[in-house]
Amino acid sequence: MKIAVYGSGYVGLVTAVCLADLKNQVTCIDIDESKISNLNKGLVPFFEPGLDELIQKNKSRLNFTIDAKSNLKSAEIIFIAVGTPQRPDGSAELKYVFQVVEDLSHNLTDNQLIVIKSTVPPGTCQAAEEIIKKNFSGKFAVLSNPEFLRQGSAIYDFMNPDRVVIGTSKESASKLLAKLYAPLKCPIVTTDLISSELIKYASNSFLATKISFINSIANLSEKVGANIDDIAKGMGLDKRIGPLFLKAGIGYGGSCFPKDVKALLNISQTNNIDFKILKAVDEVNESQRLIPLQKLEAKLTLKNANIAVLGLAFKPDTDDLREAPSLTILKSLLAKGAKIKAWDPVAEEKVREIYQEVIYCPSPYEALEDADALIIITEWPQVKNLNLTKVKNLMRNPLIIDGRNVLNKKQATKLGITYLGIGR
Ligand code: UGA
Repeated sequence: MKIAVYGSGYVGLVTAVCLADLKNQVTCIDIDESKISNLNKGLVPFFEPGLDELIQKNKSRLNFTIDAKSNLKSAEIIFIAVGTPQRPDGSAELKYVFQVVEDLSHNLTDNQLIVIKSTVPPGTCQAAEEIIKKNFSGKFAVLSNPEFLRQGSAIYDFMNPDRVVIGTSKESASKLLAKLYAPLKCPIVTTDLISSELIKYASNSFLATKISFINSIANLSEKVGANIDDIAKGMGLDKRIGPLFLKAGIGYGGSCFPKDVKALLNISQTNNIDFKILKAVDEVNESQRLIPLQKLEAKLTLKNANIAVLGLAFKPDTDDLREAPSLTILKSLLAKGAKIKAWDPVAEEKVREIYQEVIYCPSPYEALEDADALIIITEWPQVKNLNLTKVKNLMRNPLIIDGRNVLNKKQATKLGITYLGIGR
């Protein structure tokens, strides 16, 4: 099929490239000229494993442009995957979505599908329909098609979805979109527009709830002397609970969970629903990221202490720093006079722009030299596989705060390291 995708961020670009890999002809449209010019040179604007290679492989089926007008007419399906950032009141900023809708409404031809992939509150697709109707008198359909890919495993997630959700008020339109996804051989949930829009917020908020729940159990575990790893295992084997998203740590970050939880709270408030559980999910997450600092301060004075920080990205396999716990932790450590050496394989450059006072090291071991404490923030494989004997020998004071519960506590303790995890 001929496809156009507005927005070359994580969701838009991954969608475009994967659809090209499924043998569709795809045009990526973005207003950012430098991004488009870089993409035309094969330069990807963010770190996502495998994406460069997939762009190269499919370059004959991909076109990157800022010129929407001349590229829209031939598209059978037009995806909108622009950002919906958080407004100060927690609601989703929809101006980028509506700008695109307004823009394309002047350039449509009959029978095109306009598919909103951006995470948008209930009613947005209907509002988009109204905007288009004002400027275009032909036949068209607006569909909702939320995306569930994760940064760091985006290509795998797109190609192997648990389900595809299609919201529409026109059955024939959903059939055409379902045809596009047919090669993925997954269940397709077809629903009305509003339910589809809400499925995305409900899914992300439910996963965030699982994380805040297990983090609360982890905090309790610590008090009563239980082990959160065993608890998560014992709970997760119950099929009704499931083992995923039960990893305790310093809370969720990224561009999605914090934003979507707040947006769903805002949507609930607007509709006079007091979504108590979700408020708690958000609060638990805010306090969870401060735990490494509390543990550290209970053990040493931060002024002039050498602190090694391993991992800066909000999770492994991404250079994304949005809502990354590392930013809160670095800020606090610096304010308290600590000297920081940090390491991250891909996010370092971006953090360097914010915190020039930090020394950035080319390897985890270099960050550990003469350290009075180590804080683990991101569970990169290089961190998981640290040689603990080497760690102990490099540190001035062997104290580890493992914010992701990735090191072997028994081994660390045996070596004489003071090991503090989350709930273990
Ligand atoms: C999340 C969802 O998982 C995707 O399905 C969704 O499409 C995406 O948001 C989005 O809305 O675009 P993402 O934020 O990329 O994906 O990353 P996740 O792997 O879900 O991790 C989110 C955060 O939760 C990370 O900070 C991670 O460290 C944390 N997490 C995850 C835990 O603390 N414990 C866990 O057990 C799992």
